[in-house]
Amino acid sequence: MTVEIAPSILAADFGALRDQVGLVKGAGASIIHVDVMDGQFVPPLSMGPQVCEALRDLGLHLEVHLMVDRPETIQVESFAKAGAGTIIIHAEATPAVDYALDLIRSHGCHAGLAVNPATPLAIYEEVSPDLALCMTVNPGWGGQSFIPSSVAKIERLRAIVGPDVVVEVDGGVDVATAASCVAAGADRLVAGSAIFGEDDPVRAFNNILHAATNRN
Ligand code: DX5
Ligand code: ZN
Repeated sequence: MTVEIAPSILAADFGALRDQVGLVKGAGASIIHVDVMDGQFVPPLSMGPQVCEALRDLGLHLEVHLMVDRPETIQVESFAKAGAGTIIIHAEATPAVDYALDLIRSHGCHAGLAVNPATPLAIYEEVSPDLALCMTVNPGWGGQSFIPSSVAKIERLRAIVGPDVVVEVDGGVDVATAASCVAAGADRLVAGSAIFGEDDPVRAFNNILHAATNRN
């Protein structure tokens, strides 16, 4: 199983955003995780589609994590047009989950479905996203501690979705927690502060990748 590390720019220096993204691209990253917060689904505001526009020519897959209420009303279309390759919605954010996933695909993007730590996995028995995101912190802020019970949840999630769906984890991923996520079945790990919060994001990216892929 190939494991990918998706750096989250939430923890990046926005005054030097393209340079920071260029650094992790140079280290081997092919996916950039873009955390979008609306001040409703989660308390903070973060960034809009202009950030994707600013990064789209860098040749990376932009994965947009929509922590927004009712993403199907406008945000899916806005981010698809801004260059998103994957758009992830939250199961808790809309009663129209199936419609929203279809809408994402209709724009040519991969469709992701996320659940918060307190949300059961039952929805993955009913709908079939391309990517299943298990939040390993409560969304809204970077730099939180990984919730240990998430490891068993990741295992259950992999068992439900089978081998063909990307299983992603997001929140508190670092060199100490990466291996257990992969062992539980995750094949994409989001890391924000553990990369961009470090003095040397390139070394930090490589250390997490090493921890995630050399787990014997
Ligand atoms: C949390 C966001 C995460 C966050 C991860 O609401 O969805 O993507 O940026 O940050 P770290 O890696 O610092 O926990
Ligand atoms: Zn995220």
